Amino acid sequence: MDADAQLILDRCDELAAISSQPDRLERVHLSKEHRAANDLVAEWMRAAGLSTWQDAAGNQCGRLEGSEPGLPALLLGSHIDTVPDAGRYDGMLGVLLAIQVAGRVRDSGIALPFALEVVAFSDEEGTRFGTALLGSRALAGTWDDAWWNLTDADGITLFEAFQDFGLDPARLPSAFRRPENLVGYLEAHIEQGPYLDDADRRLAVVTSIAGARRFALEIVGKAGHAGGTPYDRRKDALVGASELVVAVERISKERGVIGTVGRLEAFPGGVNVIPGRVELSLDLRAEFDDDRDASIRLIVEAAHEICEWRGLAFHQKEIYRADAVRCDLGLRDAVLQGIRATGDQNPMAFWSRAGHDGVAVVAVTPIAMLFLRCRAGVSHHPDEAVRKADVAAALHAYEAAVLQLVAGA
Ligand code: GLV
Ligand code: MN
Ligand code: MN
Repeated sequence: MDADAQLILDRCDELAAISSQPDRLERVHLSKEHRAANDLVAEWMRAAGLSTWQDAAGNQCGRLEGSEPGLPALLLGSHIDTVPDAGRYDGMLGVLLAIQVAGRVRDSGIALPFALEVVAFSDEEGTRFGTALLGSRALAGTWDDAWWNLTDADGITLFEAFQDFGLDPARLPSAFRRPENLVGYLEAHIEQGPYLDDADRRLAVVTSIAGARRFALEIVGKAGHAGGTPYDRRKDALVGASELVVAVERISKERGVIGTVGRLEAFPGGVNVIPGRVELSLDLRAEFDDDRDASIRLIVEAAHEICEWRGLAFHQKEIYRADAVRCDLGLRDAVLQGIRATGDQNPMAFWSRAGHDGVAVVAVTPIAMLFLRCRAGVSHHPDEAVRKADVAAALHAYEAAVLQLVAGA
């Protein structure tokens, strides 16, 4: 296991070197870095004995047949796209663990009652086009054709990006995987939060994945001279936006949900110009969708109050929505048994605050997840770190969970 864990960590380093930025990791959907990462991952899949293909959504797939060809597949995997200035384990570690599990199962020669497939999803983060889970939603058949017109920061549409990547948008539906051809989906991922590290524990089984909604917000006031415009005549959109950011935090804390304004831009952006317009993002998550939705209503009310009082206009557009999903009890039990096989007789269990591909995949097959500790819970940051012994434990648990499903099939 130790040698395998080292190999996985080395491969995370190799993938981290495939970046569009010289000094930080950023690898977005349908970029030339995505192409290079798919090629490398495909090579590793083949070395593990899998047959490989890239599906019509740019997901890199590999398959190990079961005891006879064409059996339904247990999917293993995670994503290989990143946020801006990313860490090297979010997503990638789960893909590499999955490849290693598949390779070890193949080497064991055990007869499989189902096929094993590894999927390296093309877009989980939504960094490039603002809406997340494009790879897994294509696989799950929940694609929305309105997404073809989404644009990236350079004005390139998703449709054009598909073509530039060598994919035919008309073939997208062929990425859909029929439920009857699937057994389930198991994903391993770093926790991206501090609960395991605080408890000095290695692994956890995930009970559910938070639902998230994301909005593009806009506050419109009036630009003007920073010196000449008296306060009683200003309509400063940035001051209104700042009040709203504070209200998001206050309401989220009061309601026990998680609200984040991750992006904010003031226009026209001159040091001596009153900001006439501000664009800001809102990401809201909760264990239960009702709590999340109630908080959004309160935030929108607060935005209207702030803007009315300041003579500003407020606009909102929902750009992403994924509802919370429960992990399947049978698959969860396999993960639990997998963790127990590592010597942890009382595994931690909690819900994921972060979103994952399983949120989409659940539309076609049951899902479950295994979490492993990351240092201080830091993620979406270059300081993301894992311990080799934890990677070895995760590999052990992941493989044992798969073997548990093999035995129970
Ligand atoms: C994905 O990492 C998310 O939870 O935003
Ligand atoms: Mn992420
Ligand atoms: Mn992730």
